[in-house]
Amino acid sequence: MKRSLFIVGNWKMNTTLQSAKSLAADVVKGLDGKLSGVEVGVCPPAPFLLPVAEALRGSQVVLGAQNASNEKPGAFTGEVAIEMLLDVGCQWVILGHSERRQFFGDTDEIINKKVLAALDRGLKVIFCIGELLDDRQSGRTEAVLEVQLAKGLLNLTAAQMERVVIAYEPVWAIGTGVTASPEQAEETHAYIRKWLTTRFSSSVSDATRIQYGGSVKGDNAKELLAKPNIDGALVGGASLKADQFLAIVRAASEVATIS
Ligand code: 13P
Repeated sequence: MKRSLFIVGNWKMNTTLQSAKSLAADVVKGLDGKLSGVEVGVCPPAPFLLPVAEALRGSQVVLGAQNASNEKPGAFTGEVAIEMLLDVGCQWVILGHSERRQFFGDTDEIINKKVLAALDRGLKVIFCIGELLDDRQSGRTEAVLEVQLAKGLLNLTAAQMERVVIAYEPVWAIGTGVTASPEQAEETHAYIRKWLTTRFSSSVSDATRIQYGGSVKGDNAKELLAKPNIDGALVGGASLKADQFLAIVRAASEVATIS
């Protein structure tokens, strides 16, 4: 029995107030209440979380943020607190995205603090990991992922893992149009699941959803999602057009129905 699939749109630093509201409304309309075996979420930029929450109201689409501070509300200019995200209706937060690791200095240690803070204070976490092209070409993928997993999930309990989804996003596949082949992704997902068994237990490993991210589109989603260890997708570019995002959700729905 396959874990329930989780399809999430990461809008990154895109959209305007108007386009964010209409994109959210179009996603809700396109789903038309029919979501069998698939959970759907969107993660707009922070200023648009509240209007998007309003557009999602009454639907099954869940709301997530793209980052959070681990600090409690206070004197931290420019940061957004977990409490604020909860306040505007977020259930999820993406942490450890490669763009944050690469451009904003989010180290494994900082990400771990954020993961623990988010879980302690009521958010669920999409925890991202992924190797660079150079790592893959030189056969270091598993070694790199092992460090990201061990450090990013340091001190988490098995109970906390119930509220964590892992997103495997090979950096070389993000925004490049190059997708990991379903076989490459499956092999890496299987490695992550094995790591979860060793670090936690086979029940945590069996229950944890592992999303794939990196140039997921309507026409490659089904093949990826059909793999036994791929439990959803974290979608960048294709989540900015409702029809493209909905095509991915539809592919997930087809996979969920046949498995
Ligand atoms: P793309 O789908 O644009 O490759 O982005 C993937 C991603 O980074 C999602 O978090």
